[in-house]
Amino acid sequence: MTEVKIELPVDDLPKSWYNILPDLPQPLPPPKEPETGPSRLEFLSKVMVKKCLEQENSDQSWVPIPEEIRELYIQAGRPRPLRRARRLEKFLKTPAHLYWKREDLSPTGSHKVNTALAQLFYASEEGREGVCTETGAGQWGTALSYASCLMGLKCVVFWVRNVHEWKVDRRTLMKMYGGEVHASPSNITEVGKSILQTNPDHPGSLGIAISEGLEYAGKNEGFVYCLGSVLNHVLMHQSVIGLETSEQFNIVGEQPDLMIGCFGGGSNFGGFTLPLIGEVVKRKRKCEFLAAQSLAAPNISQGEYRYDFADHAGKTPLLKMYTLGHNAEMPPIFGDGLRYSGASPILSLLRNLGYIKTKTYPVDEKVVFEATRIFLRTEGFLPAPESSYAIRAMIDEALKCKQTGEEKVIACNLSGHGFLDIFGYRKVLNL
Ligand SMILES: Cc1ncc(COP(=O)(O)O)c(C=O)c1O
Repeated sequence: MTEVKIELPVDDLPKSWYNILPDLPQPLPPPKEPETGPSRLEFLSKVMVKKCLEQENSDQSWVPIPEEIRELYIQAGRPRPLRRARRLEKFLKTPAHLYWKREDLSPTGSHKVNTALAQLFYASEEGREGVCTETGAGQWGTALSYASCLMGLKCVVFWVRNVHEWKVDRRTLMKMYGGEVHASPSNITEVGKSILQTNPDHPGSLGIAISEGLEYAGKNEGFVYCLGSVLNHVLMHQSVIGLETSEQFNIVGEQPDLMIGCFGGGSNFGGFTLPLIGEVVKRKRKCEFLAAQSLAAPNISQGEYRYDFADHAGKTPLLKMYTLGHNAEMPPIFGDGLRYSGASPILSLLRNLGYIKTKTYPVDEKVVFEATRIFLRTEGFLPAPESSYAIRAMIDEALKCKQTGEEKVIACNLSGHGFLDIFGYRKVLNL
């Protein structure tokens, strides 16, 4: 019987990140200034980590990972195992070979630590006092609080209010790491105050929380703004996921025909797939890529491919991406990390060129969380609500293989665990 757990020795932790920019089939449309108002690019250069902005436009395919960051990755438990879902395959009676990458094993519960550690390392090298950020599901805020705590920096988090209210335990975890947490919209920024004036019960959105974080960084010298998704450097830091996975498939002696990830802004999907997409673009091999989303926020599935702001208040430059509109209202879901208006510009371009396919699931999350239950009862581990979308899509594809008899190799990224999200499962599954 083939191994169910494929591990890499610590020495095989990647030594470089993969940056797909030079390998893209077409140049990435650059960020643009809007027609009116102050320069957004100049503003970003003041409030963001300089090294990350430099990486944003790197023309190198391979960017060496500083030894200190590799050590932080090892401290956080990398490399992470790849698992063969033998029991799930048996339960589904599918000829497909199913694999899942264990980003749920991170200290804070998700893949977000891969970029948080890198961003904090650079912020600390630049002599910053602290970092600030937005968070939706809370996973990014926790990852940044954790990384700040390791590097001895302060961390201020603006957390989408309606999620902040129900994820009480995750809030405590963030505070235990030393994070200063504000429900967003908050009373400590002008953007937050103006929104609260018109609606004191505003549930918040990731776009609003980003505007608050940017305003805070602009007004508090010593603080820099860190983003947990969408941008090129974030996807590059996340490429450790896909690079490890490729090595693990080499060990197993088979290669994926289909790679699946859930999709909010694109960081776990991009980190998992871009090293392979790069090879497909260069025609070195074949593989398909599938992004799983909620109909609550089908940015890359149903959005328009055009220039738009990345935040509610229009403080960012315009990015060419699939967008639902930067002020779009989106219904609440428990997989809140997937509820964002825009998709990563790199992944948007690749989707536009036909390299990425998409699948959407209903807002009530029933079929998605039923897949979580199947996965839990066969494989034994509890995915985060966001990751459950990837699991659902993998099960759907495995069931198609049952019909066709195809022995497809399917890999999905389990971007996080769901131990702090049990309430969502209780509600949707009526437990
Ligand atoms: C566990 C988990 N997976 C996925 C996502 C979606 O983000 P991204 O598309 O950037 O990976 C989030 C966002 O918070 C998350 O917490």
